[in-house]
Amino acid sequence: MKNKGFIFDLDGVIVDTAKYHYLAWKNLANELGFDITPEQNELLKGVSRIRSLETILEWGGVKLSESEFNGHLVKKNEEYLSYIEGMSEDEILPDVTKILAYLVDAKQPIALGSASKNARPILAKVNLLEKFDTIVDGNDVTKAKPDPEVFLNAAKNLNMDPENCIVFEDSVAGVTAANSANMISIGIGDKEVLGHADHVFKDFTEIEIDFIKELVTT
Ligand code: BG6
Ligand code: MG
Repeated sequence: MKNKGFIFDLDGVIVDTAKYHYLAWKNLANELGFDITPEQNELLKGVSRIRSLETILEWGGVKLSESEFNGHLVKKNEEYLSYIEGMSEDEILPDVTKILAYLVDAKQPIALGSASKNARPILAKVNLLEKFDTIVDGNDVTKAKPDPEVFLNAAKNLNMDPENCIVFEDSVAGVTAANSANMISIGIGDKEVLGHADHVFKDFTEIEIDFIKELVTT
């Protein structure tokens, strides 16, 4: 059987943590006197922690000193981590475990390609750490999505050419990054939002094993 590199984003693809990021950012904005809409939140998905705060402050028209900015970053992450603390395997998104098990069984190389600096503790929390041959996260890259660096590093670690890699992503920035890396992009979410992906599925329950087999063999 041929090998393809399968690269998974974390937040909103493997685990339902996108809602926790949203909640923590929303609370931060509310504290500063404004709100974030679900539409605005789509633009924060896949975006680094620092860039997210810069964007949110622009939306609210709020200027902070460097120490206030850093203080809010720390506070947001502490709130986020308090939600993560309560996570268990139940928060792995439906059928993710099934697809990962198939890929492991079929001996396909698997990578994580995430913007998050919390990726490893989250994977450990939901018992998925050992499924990945390599993990490239927010601690390893200098350029955030939509730059393709995170996925190109993952492909390199897997010893795979980018055109033989498939990326699962729930964010606009991440699909753009996968496309720029010359990889096959699979959007997980709304077709209206992720229309630039090569394929879009609402979630993994819509993905048949035959579809994955075809990706491996073509
Ligand atoms: C991405 C999320 O995966 O990671 C973003 O989609 C988040 O919402 C980014 O801001 C950075 O995550 P963290 O855990 O390092 O703050
Ligand atoms: Mg994501």
